[in-house]
Amino acid sequence: MKRLTVPAIGQRKGGQPIVMLTAYTARMAQLLDPHCDVLLVGDSLGQVIYGLPSTLQVTLDMMCAHGAAVVRGSYHSVVIIDMPFGSYEQSPEQAFASASRIMAETGAAGVKLEGGEAMAPTVAFLAQRGIPVCGHVGLTPQAVNALGGYGARGRSAEEEAKILRDAKAISDAGAFLLVIEGVVEPIAAKITREVTCPTIGIGASVECDGQVLVIDDMLGMFERTARFVKRYDDLAGRIASAAESYAAEVRSRAFPTAAETYAPK
Ligand code: KIV
Ligand code: NA
Repeated sequence: MKRLTVPAIGQRKGGQPIVMLTAYTARMAQLLDPHCDVLLVGDSLGQVIYGLPSTLQVTLDMMCAHGAAVVRGSYHSVVIIDMPFGSYEQSPEQAFASASRIMAETGAAGVKLEGGEAMAPTVAFLAQRGIPVCGHVGLTPQAVNALGGYGARGRSAEEEAKILRDAKAISDAGAFLLVIEGVVEPIAAKITREVTCPTIGIGASVECDGQVLVIDDMLGMFERTARFVKRYDDLAGRIASAAESYAAEVRSRAFPTAAETYAPK
């Protein structure tokens, strides 16, 4: 199976919905890859993998290490890597240095960055120099301190107008894909109608051109998740009961049995 390309994803606007999930490890990438169009190595790995309180402490080193693992584990999906907080906001030149390092060290097809109008010149700078960019507007977790929390965005007329301007600016700057997070349905629908690139929703209704979820959230690895997460499994419960069974069998010497034991010739 040949790997999908960035232009092929860009052409999916209004067509068959784009399937995207996050992945952080090679084995998970292998399992998800046949079912996805895009694998996102999200900076959500800060909380999901490293137990950090937010994405603000995530480093370029982390993104490069996990990004390379996901590229190695996948054959079909377009792999996109999140640019971490502090690695791109200062200037287009800083963003190019960080993005080119990510591309070179991981072999990914593109990068994702958060922000609206203020980031549009940076998106254009990267896109014009051969680095495909996915935008991310609405609830942008790297701005949690400025936003005051992780609540849904766009509930006032001013906020709605701002998010729409942000989305258009990023799309017009040349982004090939746009994640819309945590916005009410009418805004997601309007953005999707008005921007030229495909939109990917997370907590942004079925009106987007595709959907993304954090893999650990949809597998049921966490007790508490956002309203927009649908749990497709209860991995936390299944892992706990597997560990419980193992512990009981070790303590009762029921494991290992002859089947798991090497015997002399
Ligand atoms: O970091 C992440 O996982 C993301 C997606 C949820 C869009 O940015
Ligand atoms: Na992210």
